[in-house]
Amino acid sequence: MSERNTFYITTPIYYPSDKLHIGHTYSTVSADAQARYQRLKGKEVFFLTGTDEHGQKIEDKAKEAGVTPKEYVDKIVAGIKDLWKLMNISNDKFIRTTDEYHEKAVQYIFQKMYDKGDIYKGKYEGLYCKPCESFWTETQAVDGKCPDCGRPVYKAEEEAYFFKLSNYADKLVKYYEEHPGFIDPVSRQNEMVNNFIKPGLQDLCISRSSFKWGIPVPVNPDHVIYVWLDALTNYITALGYASDDDSLFKKFWPANVQSIGKDIVRFHTIYWPAFLMSLDIPCPDKVFAHGWVLLEGGKMSKSKGNVVDPVILAERYGVDALRYYLLREMAFGADGVFSNEKLIGRINSDLANDLGNLLSRTVAMVLKYFGGTIPSEREALEFDAKLIETAKTAAEKATENLDGLNYSVALTEIWKLISAANKYIDETTPWILAKDESNKAKLADVMYNLCECLRITSVLIAPFMPSTAPEIRKQLGIEGKFGWDEIFTYGEKETYSVVKGDIIFPRLDLEKELEELAAASAPAEEENPLKAEIEGIAKIDIDDFAKVDLRAAKITDCFPVKKAKKLLQLTLDVGTGEPRTVASGIAKWYKPEDLIGKTVVLVSNLKPAVLCGVESCGMILAADAGEDDVKVVFLDGVPAGSKIR
Ligand code: MSP
Repeated sequence: MSERNTFYITTPIYYPSDKLHIGHTYSTVSADAQARYQRLKGKEVFFLTGTDEHGQKIEDKAKEAGVTPKEYVDKIVAGIKDLWKLMNISNDKFIRTTDEYHEKAVQYIFQKMYDKGDIYKGKYEGLYCKPCESFWTETQAVDGKCPDCGRPVYKAEEEAYFFKLSNYADKLVKYYEEHPGFIDPVSRQNEMVNNFIKPGLQDLCISRSSFKWGIPVPVNPDHVIYVWLDALTNYITALGYASDDDSLFKKFWPANVQSIGKDIVRFHTIYWPAFLMSLDIPCPDKVFAHGWVLLEGGKMSKSKGNVVDPVILAERYGVDALRYYLLREMAFGADGVFSNEKLIGRINSDLANDLGNLLSRTVAMVLKYFGGTIPSEREALEFDAKLIETAKTAAEKATENLDGLNYSVALTEIWKLISAANKYIDETTPWILAKDESNKAKLADVMYNLCECLRITSVLIAPFMPSTAPEIRKQLGIEGKFGWDEIFTYGEKETYSVVKGDIIFPRLDLEKELEELAAASAPAEEENPLKAEIEGIAKIDIDDFAKVDLRAAKITDCFPVKKAKKLLQLTLDVGTGEPRTVASGIAKWYKPEDLIGKTVVLVSNLKPAVLCGVESCGMILAADAGEDDVKVVFLDGVPAGSKIR
């Protein structure tokens, strides 16, 4: 990793569309561990996270909620900030793409690329859903239907601005070859080259005119800048690029590590470096793609209702326990399966048994045998050498693996030291040494070695468990600032005066916890699909409703439509003296004789449409009364022509 004395690390910026879950938490916690590690090494660190707030989805959700897009995102962003506070995330800045400085800088960037000739106006082709006014790609559309409303979509085009991504294909491949390690893990690089670059890079659509919630295109305010140009550039605008004060940009760019999830590798290793090349800005040192937190049944998803809430877990077991579990359990770069059982298992074995016991036993023994302070007269034992060697190895391996972003391996190496220290207690049997006054120096040596191992452990775990590290040091009587250098100073400390403290990780009752967790994460009430459907329907104003003219209409005649089995042709009296013809798709459920003489509800101002040769002037209301049942809405005792409101 870079030898600069600054370190710039970023997480992706999150969509504030839904509540963040354990997977997002993993993404941010892992970057936080790296940021904390670099600070401990003495680097000047800038750690950035934030939110990606523009786009049609947000615009739609805000509309549904009856608020402005900004009001909508403000509320969710506040929750995201709270989550990061809870998880002890040490970001130096939180960028929102709705921040004014970002919006201005993105417009500057667009203009710069445009002036350079890297942006041109063209036509965006997609599948269009007219009622939703949305464009969809072939893969987004479901069986040729709009994924939102289920109505058919059809091919359409829209004027849009494009970034000349195709011009950068060769430059990108050359860049990858000259900068091994830029894309990490390297398997992702092969994926990018073989799946995207070699088959031919398409130019990238970077503007839209079918929705409004975005940064206006400087050369054409009818368009807004579309998604990735707005989102990716946050990494430089947050540092003041294209602002009056770009000192942070000069100091910290290029980023040392841009940590992202595997699903957004293409955007970060193809679009992003191409944008930077276009702006003549150097590319980041490394884009690291981590794997996904999965559940036993596959992906977490809101619709499946199996989203794991980090707040419940962090509040119940402590933030450090959750951080530890996430970073230990999953090999960074690979997917991992989350389970409550494994989380509790790790808390009990690694945290309560191994680390917690080591600390409480050590402190208790130093208090019991020496009243709290280890005498400086000490005599080494044969077991010391192995333990000291293990401590040295743990320090080296943890450093190596943290540098390489192998968090789970780093933790495994650290836990080898913790296990070795526990084993050392069993080997040296301090309770037997304590029986004989002549062993006092040996006993002091044992206690000293245990405290040294705990001191080194406290530093090693600090990037992962930022509250536990100082708690251990407090009990060892060594509060205050500490740095990564300390892990290489075994034996240099004179002595320890320990302080009794709380148990750092109490043991948990697995069965009880599993039961309570299941109850805590179960939805408050049985998920009612109808409720979700009704709540999901866009709200209309009273003015919209007033546009629909509903009238009582008496059926005076009715007969089947010859060319269409499903249709009945109705003659209606709407009180005007002129009969009205309506074709209705109810032939499966009603015979003409069931209907003649009945009064129904007519949508009277529906534009006429010709259905199988019949000009239908309006529509009668009916209910979907079951899987395959339709019931016409009949009125009783209402004169024809009465307005229904
Ligand atoms: N807004 C874009 C990123 C723009 S970056 C310039 C985005 N946002 S997101 O909220 O959908 O996802 C943010 C990050 O969370 C991504 O890196 C994504 O991979 C990560 N994760 C989402 N679900 C995840 C898991 N289940 N597990 C691990 N990470 C996951 O994409």
